Amino acid sequence: MKVYRSISSLTKKIQEIKKQGKAIGLVPTMGFLHEGHMSLIRRARKDTDCVIVSIFVNPAQFGPKEDFRKYPRDMKKDLELCEKEAADIIFAPEAREMYPEGFATYVKVERITDTLCGASRPGHFRGVATVVAKLFNITMPDIAYFGQKDGQQAAVIRRMAKDLDMPVKIKVEPIVREKDGLAMSSRNVYLNPEERVQALCIYKSLKLAQRLFNKGERDSKEIIKRMSQLINENRKADIDYVSIVDTEELRDMKRISGQAMVTVAVRIGNTRLIDNIILN
Ligand code: PAJ
Repeated sequence: MKVYRSISSLTKKIQEIKKQGKAIGLVPTMGFLHEGHMSLIRRARKDTDCVIVSIFVNPAQFGPKEDFRKYPRDMKKDLELCEKEAADIIFAPEAREMYPEGFATYVKVERITDTLCGASRPGHFRGVATVVAKLFNITMPDIAYFGQKDGQQAAVIRRMAKDLDMPVKIKVEPIVREKDGLAMSSRNVYLNPEERVQALCIYKSLKLAQRLFNKGERDSKEIIKRMSQLINENRKADIDYVSIVDTEELRDMKRISGQAMVTVAVRIGNTRLIDNIILN
């Protein structure tokens, strides 16, 4: 496993790998790796010859009042975990390597970034799309791996790759959860013990949606009402959104038909957590 910090040195290496005809798998991350990230790396390891993990806390996707500075970081442990999963290449640039002075070009996916997390985090998906486009250009992956945990992000990346004819296959892997159901997230470390307990209401509300759906409920308003009631029983929980949308265009579904994503963003204390499930 080799760690690259500069784009030019990695570019040289990528040219070599391409000449050998090897398939490249890319796992973009912001580090502080957990089992959710590991599942993507393992998938890439199975599918491709050369596994690249990028570790970069991307300033462009954080709002001015968000947690860029205090976002958890542990490069030493991340490198150990990647080594264990037999990643080939780590790309861990500094911010000024990715955004040098004079940087002025951004990728903005429209429409599907106006809702859900896009509505409460203006500019967030512009930052995500821009950095992922750059990572695609730098690493030239055959397949890139993303988690369903960030369901809207996955839709945005798919849209971008399709619209801009990027020669990469996008694979989206299932959500990895803690034993009690909380979706794994680097931000879970922000939770104090009381908040950690209350954070469970997110997964509980999604399971409630699944139960109501299984019993034949198709009225989104009713399901959302019941989910919101459950979440609001928790003193520390403050709902950003509870929505039921189609998985591609992320438009609100009044009645559930076909594939629907039940998606939730809740602030637990000061920590904003997201989660979702797919109803079929
Ligand atoms: P980060 O939050 O580090 O997540 C990296 C990848 O891991 C994303 O595709 C995310 O969906 C996936 N992931 C996170 N938690 C997961 C879980 N519990 N189960 C399955 N997959 C999970 O998402 C980002 O970084 C950034 O926005 C990035 C795409 C790297 C661009 O900066």
